[in-house]
Amino acid sequence: LTVVALSGLAAACGSGSGSGAASPPKLEFRNPLRIPPLLQPRPGKDGVRRFELTMQAGRTQILAGKQTPTWGFNGTFLGPTLRARRGDKVQMTVRNRLPEVSTVHWHGMRLPARMDGGPHQPIQPGAEWTPHWTIDQPAATSWYHPHPHGSTARHVYRGLAGMFILDDDLDLELPAEYGVDDIPLILQDKEFAEDGSFGGDPLKGTFGILGDHILVNGTHDPHLTVTTERVRFRVLNGSNARMYRLTFADKRRFHVIANDAGLLAAPVEVEAIELTPGERAEIVVAFAPGEQVVLRSADNGVDIGEGDFDLLKLVAAAKLKPAPAVPARLAALAPITPPAGAKVRRFKLGGHDSINGQEMDMTRIDEVVPAGAVEIWEIENTVYSHNFHIHEVAFQVLDVDGSAPPVYSRGHKDTVYVPAKSVVRLAVQFGHFTDPTSPYMYHCHLLRHEDSGMMGQFVLVKPGTESQVNRTLPGHG
Ligand code: C2O
Ligand code: CU
Repeated sequence: LTVVALSGLAAACGSGSGSGAASPPKLEFRNPLRIPPLLQPRPGKDGVRRFELTMQAGRTQILAGKQTPTWGFNGTFLGPTLRARRGDKVQMTVRNRLPEVSTVHWHGMRLPARMDGGPHQPIQPGAEWTPHWTIDQPAATSWYHPHPHGSTARHVYRGLAGMFILDDDLDLELPAEYGVDDIPLILQDKEFAEDGSFGGDPLKGTFGILGDHILVNGTHDPHLTVTTERVRFRVLNGSNARMYRLTFADKRRFHVIANDAGLLAAPVEVEAIELTPGERAEIVVAFAPGEQVVLRSADNGVDIGEGDFDLLKLVAAAKLKPAPAVPARLAALAPITPPAGAKVRRFKLGGHDSINGQEMDMTRIDEVVPAGAVEIWEIENTVYSHNFHIHEVAFQVLDVDGSAPPVYSRGHKDTVYVPAKSVVRLAVQFGHFTDPTSPYMYHCHLLRHEDSGMMGQFVLVKPGTESQVNRTLPGHG
């Protein structure tokens, strides 16, 4: 058993078994919540937004009096928040100053496969990668993280992750002042060894890491002072495996306004929401002057969601700036409707390392999809918890074991929980960037599973050319 001293308060921490059942250390909410800085693009006369990201190693004080070896973008831990608007041209310069090869994937972005930053776009140590694309999708909370095949769990766990906010021209009265009433919350669970380093093996056990310390934006034991009557939180589950059931200690209700891929048609009032790794939700919470409330994650009885955890104390200022009510209508959400006779593809998640009986192979194209198609993807989970993420697309959940999904998760998404022994059916809208030789990924976003081979590859091609695709790609390295 590892024992970590928490500022004089001795707390018994996880045994490293990955069971997630250890009782979490009690929080005192001593540290102000860190807000990742907004990355300013380099100005240019051509209107292109040029962002520069450098992947680097360093040490970060996360626990009082300890230095944790970490990785980050433009800093030692996590990364800055990127922001762009529909119609913007963006140009990235991603430098790798790490001692090993990595990639940077834009999770949730609709873009050509060669710009996607998956395992086929490696950045060697000392090298840089310069993808560029035009933002052409609705407002959403997306994110970026490494995706080198076999090492994603380790690279993300070390700290490489950041938020990427997309805006559009919808004129809605929603809280939108970054860091004031529009607040990112990146949730990540960690184990700490006695010397302050991240403990545990991201590839151990059934699910990998299920740590007993939950950091919010890299902050341990956090509090946040709110200054407005309503606050929008953009919640990202950036954990390797843990699922959260987010709720407030006083059971207050709040509004869900967006899923992974954008705003809902209308806000949905709830008492709790569940988020598996890679998923995002935007919520709006109302506050009364002077009150305090704790955001928590409640045990949901699921193997990757065990344990009750306090996450963040919210402290409302004595006087709050007035904020309008959440608008009754949000987005003109076009339902993703499969046409009659839509193509159905079936994916069986087996154990922790295969889809349809096969492990990921970088040289094998598993699926060939005509550009612009709307298809039904049926994900069957035969054993324990998984989730499922598809690059480049937006989808809607048709049903989970024949029942409609919770109302708050009926918007456009790119990642979905697939409960043990169940079948999830998705209506998937594919994009228009064709390239028969450059695949996109689909995979379980429990990173230990993804790294072990629970991942496959698809290409988007001109409709009618499916049969001409060479299913074997040249090997790498
Ligand atoms: Cu968030 Cu394929 O990844
Ligand atoms: Cu999985």
